Amino acid sequence: MKILGIESSCDETAVSVVEDGKIVLSNVIASSLEEHILYGGVVPEIASRRHAECIEQVTKQALKDAGCELSDIDAIAVTAAPGLIGALLVGVNFAKGLSLKTGIPLVPVHHLRSHIAANYVTQPDLKPPFLALVASGGHSHIVEVKSYTEYKVIGQTRDDAAGECMDKTARVLGLPYPGGKNMDAVSQEGNPHAFQTPHPHVDGSPYDFSFSGLKTYVINTVHHMEQKGEKPNVPDMGATIITAVVDSLADNTERAAKDLGYDTIVLAGGVSANSFLRKRFETICENNHWTLYMPALQYCGDNGAMVAAQGYYEFIAGRRAGLDLNAKATMAIDAEF
Ligand code: KG4
Ligand code: ZN
Repeated sequence: MKILGIESSCDETAVSVVEDGKIVLSNVIASSLEEHILYGGVVPEIASRRHAECIEQVTKQALKDAGCELSDIDAIAVTAAPGLIGALLVGVNFAKGLSLKTGIPLVPVHHLRSHIAANYVTQPDLKPPFLALVASGGHSHIVEVKSYTEYKVIGQTRDDAAGECMDKTARVLGLPYPGGKNMDAVSQEGNPHAFQTPHPHVDGSPYDFSFSGLKTYVINTVHHMEQKGEKPNVPDMGATIITAVVDSLADNTERAAKDLGYDTIVLAGGVSANSFLRKRFETICENNHWTLYMPALQYCGDNGAMVAAQGYYEFIAGRRAGLDLNAKATMAIDAEF
């Protein structure tokens, strides 16, 4: 069964054809990243305009790369929530138009569900149930994945997401957007104990996260140093903040897995590309004799293959959308469209 996956929730216009939720036949990504670098972050209006300009071409290319015609496609899966509303609407309306024209069923996909599904294309042997840590620019969740379409959130951030914290730290340190990725690269040789950071935690909620204190710590520390004519050592500060974020993500996930009895751990979302996070989870899972799944690096960030993969499971579970499908800026992972 061939699914066309369409993703436009942020700054990537991405379309892919995936067979049976596992075999990637094509994976085309157009990004407006270069333009956002000028502004130090994603400008929603620019992202929406670029989606509108290139979505048709990206879709044609994805079909061509897969050696398919639209008539070979069994379902059109589209990211409909959560994300930047103007950006999401481009993908949703394009998918609705395609579905109307061709009669191919339309399947709405939740963005975080698709990030988890990036693991199904990377490691086809992965099957629920498992415990997932989903960390991206907008979300930090610990989720019980009970089946391909059933989820229970057991922990989440109370304020900033892990990616947001790293992006903001990078910005204060003068690193270009996308901050999280650049900070990972420059912090490889940094001393993770160079600064004494607060330990992010939420009293009484052992699986929840709070990263805004770390962000404030960086802003204040850099400000105080600048007032004294000093500059922070960027690799040291980067390594310190990444390690503090990773400690929190790893400790809560390990605790949750022990408490709930999971021995399969899955990482997902843009932050799952972080080298410190990947190494930490390799160690945790080795020590506990747990099995770890991480997306291949090309599937950590936003892409159409993960949408098509999740779309496959939503489709076989009978999920469909009509032409009244709307995009939503926010939506819980366990809610239905
Ligand atoms: O999943 P994603 O591509 O988009 C959202 O759904 O938000 O995640 C983007 C986030 C950004 O905050 C970006 O800085 C972060 O993922 N990210 C990283 C790395 N690569 C991407 N954060 C830390 N280390 C990385 N190597
Ligand atoms: Zn994402």
